Amino acid sequence: SFNLRNRSFLKELDFTPQEWKFLLKLAAELKAAKYAGTEVPRISGKNIAVIFEKTSTRTRCAFEVAAHDQGAHVTFLDPGSTQLGHKESVKDTARVLGRFYDALEYRGFGQENVDILARYAGVPVWNGLSTEWHPTQTLCDILTMREHTVKHDNEVAFAYLGDAQNNVANSLLIGGAMMGMDVRMVAPQSRWNPDEVIKAAQSIAETTGARITHTENVEEGVRGADFLYTDVWLSMGESKDMWDERIGLLKPYQINMDAVRATGNPAVKVMHCLPAFHDRNTKVGQEIYEHTGLESLEITEEVFESPYSIVFDQAENRMHTIKAIMVATLGS
Ligand code: CP
Ligand code: NVA
Repeated sequence: SFNLRNRSFLKELDFTPQEWKFLLKLAAELKAAKYAGTEVPRISGKNIAVIFEKTSTRTRCAFEVAAHDQGAHVTFLDPGSTQLGHKESVKDTARVLGRFYDALEYRGFGQENVDILARYAGVPVWNGLSTEWHPTQTLCDILTMREHTVKHDNEVAFAYLGDAQNNVANSLLIGGAMMGMDVRMVAPQSRWNPDEVIKAAQSIAETTGARITHTENVEEGVRGADFLYTDVWLSMGESKDMWDERIGLLKPYQINMDAVRATGNPAVKVMHCLPAFHDRNTKVGQEIYEHTGLESLEITEEVFESPYSIVFDQAENRMHTIKAIMVATLGS
């Protein structure tokens, strides 16, 4: 067993691969206990603030439900109702909230903000997504892969298609490297992970045996993959002025039935962190449709609703994995 008490989770590399495996095992145990009705609260009486400078459905609700299941109290803060971002710096906010709360979750823009929060709060800080990283998502994704394959982590191959330069792509690359997986980033070169992230992944791969591939070629990238993964082509905080250029660049990297077939693996599973543009039944989906005539972007409705898709199993696992992080870093 590992003692992760009082540790922050700001990015993948804050924990070792062994510590990741411990967190994954704990998440699976907590999930089983919840299903069996035998869950025991391990952070009773703790106070947790969850701070969101960007919108969220899964991450916010996962933190709130996980905290309640485990006996902790939650305060939700958004920039519209706090001094943060208008009259008070992250550094000062950290020193105030650190006096009230036992731990903080923070979703914001640049990674430096969540780093500053952790440096000055004096309590564990969990990164609920920054422009650069989405580590709680990747922990969830690896648990989900484990549940949908009989292979060991180091035998699993996944291909990430689309915008391979965003938070989810960076986190998956590092997380996959840490788990020793066969990681293929399939995207136009201009949207590959930043060089320093690729270098970090390659150096982790030397110790874990992971295979790291960046390719522009979809057929080559997806061949033999156990999982296909995609995310939005424009992330929160990116200007809508980018849509046309981004769509033009990434259109060949859509997860559609051709991409699924190109894996050559009838058991392939498709993942997406969500929310996804797979139809036009949303305000933004409608705007995109009116502007481009496209019914879906990074994933087609056909694949999204197919038996290949495990996106809702994946979404559920946000809660179990976030709970594991809370219990491990705050529990006694
Ligand atoms: N996947 C994810 O982080 O979703 P939310 O933006 O809804 O939290
Ligand atoms: N890359 C996406 C992930 C959302 C969960 C974004 O940052 O908007």
